[in-house]
Amino acid sequence: MEKEILKNSNEQLKKFAMIVNGDKPMRKVKPEEKLKAGVDLGTSSIVLTVLDSKNRIVYGAYEYDHAVQDGIVVNFMESVNILRRLKEKAEKVLGCELKTACGAIPPKTGEKSAKVVANVIEETGMICTGIEDEPTAAAKFLRLVNGTVVDIGGGTTGISVFKNNKLIHVIDEATGGFHMTLVLGGRYKIKNDEAEQLKRDKDKEAEVYAVIKPVVEKMAAIVQNMGAEVIDPVIVVGGATNFTEFTNTFSKTLKRKVYKPLYPQFVTPLGIAMFDD
Ligand SMILES: Nc1ncnc2c1ncn2[C@@H]1O[C@H](COP(=O)(O)OP(=O)(O)OP(=O)(O)O)[C@@H](O)[C@H]1O
Ligand SMILES: [Mg+2]
Repeated sequence: MEKEILKNSNEQLKKFAMIVNGDKPMRKVKPEEKLKAGVDLGTSSIVLTVLDSKNRIVYGAYEYDHAVQDGIVVNFMESVNILRRLKEKAEKVLGCELKTACGAIPPKTGEKSAKVVANVIEETGMICTGIEDEPTAAAKFLRLVNGTVVDIGGGTTGISVFKNNKLIHVIDEATGGFHMTLVLGGRYKIKNDEAEQLKRDKDKEAEVYAVIKPVVEKMAAIVQNMGAEVIDPVIVVGGATNFTEFTNTFSKTLKRKVYKPLYPQFVTPLGIAMFDD
């Protein structure tokens, strides 16, 4: 059953990655067709996802940004400008207009930040149809009924526990991939930009991982000590989980199996679009 969940998700994620990298729509879109869009304003990147009415992947694009910090929009106009560019690109490729979109915020960040995300979306000319919790969006994409989703992005780690399709526990910690970058920078005495590049260098992964492993262990300890029972399966998502050994380290600390889908950074953005009804 657990494998089945990831199998379906992985097929979709593979398709999505192909589109994002190749800039091609999956299929022709009729001008009058109802499309669903998701906007993920992240600390590391802004992602736009487009699905059809049956939640099949149609299009996606992203841009790196510095307009969001710890999951909160700190530069409104920069966020709007990036999203506007992504929307225009999407409309050009698809040959039709994106009329609506759903957004998301980290759990418990409140009404005010939800309003800011909605304003960013509406400023680009789309109607904002809702603002979801990021981990709830991830769980929706993974079709998770029971389990624990750990979303580790650039600046935040969101943990959410689901029982019988209901969110029973949620926490959000200000730690993420950026903390790995800081540790690397400190270890090698290099600037953040250089450390960020080194972190993503596949040829140096073994060396890099040895340095950042304690950060990963700390992240797993956050899950262990979150103040609620961990429900299986544990699924890690988000860009910061992009290390081969990541799930092994998590498994050892949590003493249970840990799953990671392909292209984990696209799980939450795809889940957000599923809510644009
Ligand atoms: N190949 C990779 N190897 C290591 N780390 C990576 C890789 N790709 C992305 N990351 C890291 O993942 C993080 C970004 O993840 P993600 O795109 O999920 O974040 P975000 O949604 O923008 O941020 P947040 O959810 O915290 O607001 C960054 O710290 C980035 O350095
Ligand atoms: Mg995120």
